[in-house]
Amino acid sequence: MRGVALVISALLVGALAGAVVPAARAADAPRGQLVANANACMGCHAVDRKLVGPSFQQIAAKYKGDAQAPAKLSRKVKDGGSGVWGMIPMPAHQSMSDADIRAVVDWVLAGAPSR
Ligand code: HEC
Repeated sequence: MRGVALVISALLVGALAGAVVPAARAADAPRGQLVANANACMGCHAVDRKLVGPSFQQIAAKYKGDAQAPAKLSRKVKDGGSGVWGMIPMPAHQSMSDADIRAVVDWVLAGAPSR
């Protein structure tokens, strides 16, 4: 029995350490999240609730299984537009690189995980 207790406490300590370390390392955040933070996307979008624009989780759910979504949404982020979620337009992001746009769109479509 003592052996079991030792194993369990070792597992607990491991789990706690695992939970604390990633949160403390911002450099481990997904690239798409860093791009979103650096380009003010989060001024209009949140991961899990509607702000000015739809939440990133709503967007992920809407386009789940849509093979055209990465290309379509990359164009939308670059050129801006309205009419899919309502009448408020998203501004264009012409100065962002295609690679940054694709990284953030892939991250959004994955449900915007924090790591
Ligand atoms: C000024 C506010 C604003 C900013 C800044 C903004 N968005 Fe949006 N976004 C919106 C609105 C409003 C919509 C809904 C547009 C519509 O209804 O067609 C939207 C829609 C979207 C969609 C879904 C498009 C669709 O056709 O379904 C994606 C993906 C998206 N935004 C990503 C981003 C990313 C990535 C950034 C940062 C580079 C960003 N947004 C910055 C307001 C914004």
